[in-house]
Parts: sequence; structure tokens; C-alpha cells
Amino acid sequence: MKDLYKKAKEVLPNSYAVYSKFKVAAAIRMKDGNIITGVNVENASFGLTNCAERTALFTAYTMGYKKEDIKEMLITTEKDDIVSPCGACRQVMRELVPLETPVHLVSANGMTQTVLNKELLPFAFDKEDL
Ligand code: THU
Repeated sequence: MKDLYKKAKEVLPNSYAVYSKFKVAAAIRMKDGNIITGVNVENASFGLTNCAERTALFTAYTMGYKKEDIKEMLITTEKDDIVSPCGACRQVMRELVPLETPVHLVSANGMTQTVLNKELLPFAFDKEDL
């Protein structure tokens, strides 16, 4: 998991968090070994902010990857506390990431908690409900 964390740390400074000053980075390891990263990108119209998790996921899909290509995911910030994905990201991850995928939450001082994607959003609304 060290290399996944290293990649996330590398892009963390690229986070555009001019309003919250809260930089977040995500990294996704694909089954082919490729690692795709994302950061949060904010906007003066606050609601248009894109979280790091969604940036990374949308990039992966843009590159042609599919749900079943995802092996694991990692989220980190500059803080010494663990940060878990916001509700909007959980909803997106529910649909775009396999349920059994490990999601590693890593603090700036290396504290790590790993949860499964399915644990992040119980009793979820999903495409089967449509
Ligand atoms: N943020 C993320 O990028 N991911 C999360 O899971 C939590 C929140 C960002 C959004 C915003 O730019 C900043 O953190 C503060 O909410």
C-alpha cells in the first residue's frame, strides 16, 4: 500500500483548495497495476467542488477502465486525522467501485483504517432501484 500512498502524497499539493484550505488526494490501484490519482478541485460557486475521490474515479473511467478493473483505493489529507469520503463520494463509489474493494483511509502521520466500499453506504440507493 506504500506505493499507493506515495502517489497520493505526490499529487496532494496539486489540490485546488483555495477556499477550504483542506487538501485531499485519492489514489486508485487498477488490477493491471496502474495507479490513478485525483485531488479536490474547488470553485467560487462552492457546490461545484469536485472531491478527490470523484476526480480519481472519473479519470479512471475516462481512461477506459471499468468497475471490475479496480483493486483498491486510498484517500489522504494533510491532517493527522483519518478522513472518510463524503456522502456524495460514497454514492458515486457505490456505483463505480466494486462492493468488496478495500478503501484505505490514511492520515498525514501514517495512521490507517481500511474499510470495504460496501461498508461506507449501507441501505444505499442504487441503479437497481430505478
Ligand atoms: N473533500 C474531498 O475531496 N473528499 C472528501 O471525501 C471530503 C471532502 C474536499 C471537498 C472540499 O474541497 C474540501 O475537502 C472541504 O470539504
